Amino acid sequence: MIKAQRGTKDILPSDILTWQEIENKARNLFQNANYKEIRTPIFESTDLFKRGVGDSTDIVNKEMYTFNVGGGDTSITLRPENTAGVVRSYIEHGMDKLPTPVKLWYFGPMFRYERPQAGRQRQFHQIGLELFGIPDASADAEVIILAAEFLKANGIGNLVVSLNSLGCPDCRNKYKEKIKAAIKPYLENLCDDCKVRFEKNPLRMLDCKNEDCKKIFEKEEIKKVINDDFICEDCKNHFEELKKYLDKVGIKYEIDKMLVRGLDYYTRTVFEIKSTALGAQSAVLGGGRYDGLVEMLGGKPTPAVGFALGAERLFSLIEKKEEDKLDYFVVSKFQDVAIKTVFELRQKGYSADFDMLGRKFAKQLERAGKVAKKAVIIGEDELEKGFYTVKNLESGVQEKVSSL
Ligand code: HAM
Repeated sequence: MIKAQRGTKDILPSDILTWQEIENKARNLFQNANYKEIRTPIFESTDLFKRGVGDSTDIVNKEMYTFNVGGGDTSITLRPENTAGVVRSYIEHGMDKLPTPVKLWYFGPMFRYERPQAGRQRQFHQIGLELFGIPDASADAEVIILAAEFLKANGIGNLVVSLNSLGCPDCRNKYKEKIKAAIKPYLENLCDDCKVRFEKNPLRMLDCKNEDCKKIFEKEEIKKVINDDFICEDCKNHFEELKKYLDKVGIKYEIDKMLVRGLDYYTRTVFEIKSTALGAQSAVLGGGRYDGLVEMLGGKPTPAVGFALGAERLFSLIEKKEEDKLDYFVVSKFQDVAIKTVFELRQKGYSADFDMLGRKFAKQLERAGKVAKKAVIIGEDELEKGFYTVKNLESGVQEKVSSL
């Protein structure tokens, strides 16, 4: 028998109400904050992710589902994330001409060829938003506040935002050199991935999960470089402003100098919200500012900031929604009468169903008791005299009515 692919999951009817509830909450909250929904294609040109997410990231190097199509001439990739696709769409549709800021949100499947484990799938869903056009830290604050509000709306409170500033390309390049100089004496002891990162993407070393690497980064002289305030005056002011805004609305955060994120496009603010209940894959959501990405992908220089949340991870944290019972179940051996009654009830806005197999009366009533709040019983007597017997299946009370 053919089974679902490793790292993919069916979302079954028993879970769908909870999924719909998550989506409804996102729609209400984000649209109330003036974000419009955007739905971009699931596959894009491979170049978009290579340039956008970054050639030296794990996502691009190891995790992309890439295909050659059109006789091998065109390389396409299933989207591993949605920021690059949304930016592509923003540029392609001239959204820079819309009143600033442009605020967009999305919900959809993403694909990463990772080793599946709890909280990590190869097809997963992200809910996210992107805000274009505002350099001020008020935009970063709004995005972080909405992320926290969304979790709160889903019954998850008391979470702390991990926050860091990666500076602008100028100050970050200087920082990278300092980090490299401090780590160089230990280069031989780093894991193979970090040896490559040392050359290509030194900050990503700080995010390494290898215990030996972690111990090296704990060394006094390296810690000192990491903890040093390397960011320039402008970046510092931006970060201070952001903290002030978050304090003002009472969002709890902690500064995490090791937070570097796994995508190359970030400038200044990066953040994550984690939950210890999630185990090893603890990040429920992550995001940050990416002021260089629109220009890098061919648009005008445009500051931007956003986040994306892993919907499966959120799903695993929240209370599941129980299915509501139907308003009515029609019990009758006269199929034509049952089908007409159900049709009329649905037209009036009630949820209703009936027995399509023409089972015995007792069986139909038993089924009604399982799936509905009330049974509409239509036997010979009811049909002859023109009334309905309505049984309240919770209280057992039965009454005769002339119309439903
Ligand atoms: P990301 O941190 O790569 O950021 O992914 C965001 C969230 O997606 C993670 O915090 C996690 O909850 C979920 N996630 C990622 N990979 C998997 C997986 N394999 N299985 C299950 N869940 C997963 C981004 O994708 C950026 N585009 C976020 C962003 C938007 N930055 C600015 N705007």
